[in-house]
Amino acid sequence: MEADSRGYNPIKDAHIETCLTRDVESNLPTCLECLSLTGDVPDFAKGDIDTTVQFLGRTLSIPLLIAPITGGGSRSAGINRNLATAAEHCRIAMAVGSERPMLEKKAGAESYLLRDLAPTIPLLANLGLVHAKRGRDYLIEAVESIRADGIILYVNPLHEILQSDGESDFSGAVGALEAIIDDFPYPVFLKEVGCGLPESIVRWAATKKIAGIDVAGLGGTNWPKVEGLIQGKDYAVYEGLGTCTRDAIVRSRKWLRQGQQLIGGGGIRTGIDMAKALALGATLTSMALPFLKWSGQSAKNVIHEVDRLKEELVVGLWYSGSKTISELSGKVA
Ligand SMILES: Cc1cc2nc3c(=O)[nH]c(=O)nc-3n(C[C@H](O)[C@H](O)[C@H](O)COP(=O)(O)O)c2cc1C
Repeated sequence: MEADSRGYNPIKDAHIETCLTRDVESNLPTCLECLSLTGDVPDFAKGDIDTTVQFLGRTLSIPLLIAPITGGGSRSAGINRNLATAAEHCRIAMAVGSERPMLEKKAGAESYLLRDLAPTIPLLANLGLVHAKRGRDYLIEAVESIRADGIILYVNPLHEILQSDGESDFSGAVGALEAIIDDFPYPVFLKEVGCGLPESIVRWAATKKIAGIDVAGLGGTNWPKVEGLIQGKDYAVYEGLGTCTRDAIVRSRKWLRQGQQLIGGGGIRTGIDMAKALALGATLTSMALPFLKWSGQSAKNVIHEVDRLKEELVVGLWYSGSKTISELSGKVA
């Protein structure tokens, strides 16, 4: 994964280009399609609806995180700056893409330095679980170098094995995180990248000082598809490996402790998808591919789309007779 002559990371560029120009979404559903919110008669006015939630000590206008997308590529700074500007305006949370290129000096830092644009929102750093093997200081550098509030670690063995320069040795990775988590000074989250965080790691996280998880389930961006397109390989056989977002949320809810965040991600595309994920027990939702597409035009365009999501979420709350996000709980069948 060497930088090109301009200091950009060519693999990051290939991911962005492919996700923007090709069909990279799973052929399989999130399974949220099979559910409906339960209807009720609202005993309140539309204006009474409160979509806010608390996340990392701050108030979000809607329960939404811009999932990690990019950093270190030639287009990353433009994308991230539009996303950060919009996230600050809309009061939603944001994560940067993997900081590995920057920390390994294989890309510049510019695209990751977003705090000045987004001073008041929760901002998350991003590395992989395997990077815990490099030790506590490496993870702390990922957080502090971009003035983030915490870090979200991708746990993505399927994607790694299919990437041309992917990590092919996960041995000791969970143990390495276990060794540093107890006195790690920032909140640590875990996530998949589109095939559902395995239940075994969720169970593990439930017993540790993990702040939360993003299930990143099957049904949205599909990495076997992306890598197959980039490498000219037929990876169709791997496209169905994973757990749909609905089931990944339901299984994770069983294990997580009160106070741990359950982020419903993977194929969330509308405010109604968000409402269903929240009704199933998610405390927050996340999206990546739509934000990548919206960010290409302007921060204003991203703001416009987040406003649309909020309006759809409000209709979902209204339809199900829920005045607040927590009242959505269980209102799905
Ligand atoms: C272009 C692109 C790049 C991504 N890069 C990262 C990354 O660097 N780190 C990470 O944890 N996840 C990464 N992801 C995965 C997303 O954070 C998310 O978990 C996944 O795409 C599923 O959400 P979606 O269906 O809304 O896209 C990336 C996704 C996209 C589309």
